Amino acid sequence: MKIAVFASGTGSNFSAILESIHSKKIINVEVVLLVSDRPEALAVQKARDDRIPVFTFFAKDYPNKQAYELEILDELTQRKVDFIVLAGYMRLLGNVLLRVYDRKIINVHPSLLPAFAGKDAIGQALDYGVKVTGVTVHYVDEGMDTGLIIAQQAVTIDSDETRETLIEKIQEQEHRLLPEVIQRLANREEAR
Ligand code: GAR
Repeated sequence: MKIAVFASGTGSNFSAILESIHSKKIINVEVVLLVSDRPEALAVQKARDDRIPVFTFFAKDYPNKQAYELEILDELTQRKVDFIVLAGYMRLLGNVLLRVYDRKIINVHPSLLPAFAGKDAIGQALDYGVKVTGVTVHYVDEGMDTGLIIAQQAVTIDSDETRETLIEKIQEQEHRLLPEVIQRLANREEAR
């Protein structure tokens, strides 16, 4: 299964996927493209270091979402991408990609959805004072973190929890859960 990873930031989930492939924790999965709306993102650097093809763009250089998504779609088609994984990609997808990759786009989010959708889910959970939060992997639709849930992992928030310790606990679970789900989806594609 050929996948494209979309990332806007640090790319720790992107690295976790690559590491799972290198260590053969996941098999029959190949990352053929990294897409980023932030050419200076660390994720882009990581892809270049790993010689993974990169497509970057600045949304403001295009008249609308459809225009840049058509360019992304062209890259995906050329590279025969089967599946898209959003790993810290901080933009809503539009119809161009959603229509062609229907039920073939997943996202990882740092909360137990539907709680704390949108930006800074970890800060939202700490501000609210919940004792349990977590990680969700879900299919992507046109909403903000609203698609069908595939897998979730709870993470407890201790009384002495800080933002830093919670980020660490959540990322540890993301880095385990996301590759696991990708493997499950690849197995299902194989069985077709
Ligand atoms: C991850 O925690 C991911 O769950 C979150 O962005 C972070 C990216 O980290 N995504 C969202 O909040 C999407 N709504 P990374 O760049 O180190 O993988």
